[in-house]
Formats: sequence, structure tokens, C-alpha cells
Amino acid sequence: MKIAMGADHAGFGLKNKLAEVARSLGHDVLDLGCNGPDSVDYPDYAAAVCGKVTEGAVDKGVLICGTGIGMTIAANKIPGIRCALVHDLFSAKATREHNDSNVLAMGERVIGPGVAEEILRVWLETEFSQGERHQGRIGKVSKLEGASALHP
Ligand code: RB5
Repeated sequence: MKIAMGADHAGFGLKNKLAEVARSLGHDVLDLGCNGPDSVDYPDYAAAVCGKVTEGAVDKGVLICGTGIGMTIAANKIPGIRCALVHDLFSAKATREHNDSNVLAMGERVIGPGVAEEILRVWLETEFSQGERHQGRIGKVSKLEGASALHP
């Protein structure tokens, strides 16, 4: 699988570890930075990674910042992106099975590298369930993209 990875200054260390893990599992990693502690803006890296996902250059994306929250908020503004903020193994599996998440976000200041590596492994190996109810819900989520007012 091709995976784009990006991080801000608060997440580049974990991103680098996860890139090594993904490569050791046989995946092709496109590292879009950043690669140092100088302050950068997480939306720039969310946009870079998610752009690769939506244009089909990669299969999935991984985003790391301090909390994972900023990356998740930014990523989910982009049509076609379903970014899941995950800090536990149950959610890693469930978000692939139920939400068909195509981007994984984590916070380097929130979890340790061991848990993060296991989350990545489970998220990458879990397939979408293809369940009809889940497909319907994902379709409804897609219809919310760009919505400025909600009239269900
Ligand atoms: C950077 O200090 C921090 O705000 C950022 O990494 C992230 O946690 C934002 O959501």
C-alpha cells in the first residue's frame, strides 16, 4: 500500500518512527515532512497529505501533531477525506470497519510510540466491512461536505 505521512513540529518524531514501521511492513511511504523542531503550521501538512489521498497518488494518509486534533479538524475540511483521530486499538479497527477512514491521525503528546505503532498496524490491516448500513452512512457524511446549513 502507498501511504503519505505528514506531521508538524510536535509530531515529526512519531511520524518518523511510524514511517519506519510502515516500511518494515512492506508499505511504500511518501514522507511529506516536517522533519525538525522548528515551528510549522499543521494545516499545511494536513493539506499536503490529504491532497495525495484525494488525487489517488496514495491509498491512505497518516497525520501526526501534538494532539492529533488540529490535523483531524483540518483534514476533515477536505472533500473525500475521512480522517479518524485514534488513540486506542478498538477505535483503530472500528474506524476502518465502520467509517472506511482513509486518513489516520494521532497525537505524539498523547500516546507512546508502542501503542501508536500497534494502532497503525491494526488500522492498515483492517478492511472496510462493506456493510450496507455503513455505506449508507458514509454517503450521508459525503453529502455534508460543503454544507453551510443543515436541513435534514
Ligand atoms: C503545536 O503546539 C500544537 O498546537 C499542534 O501540534 C496540535 O496539537 C494542534 O492541534
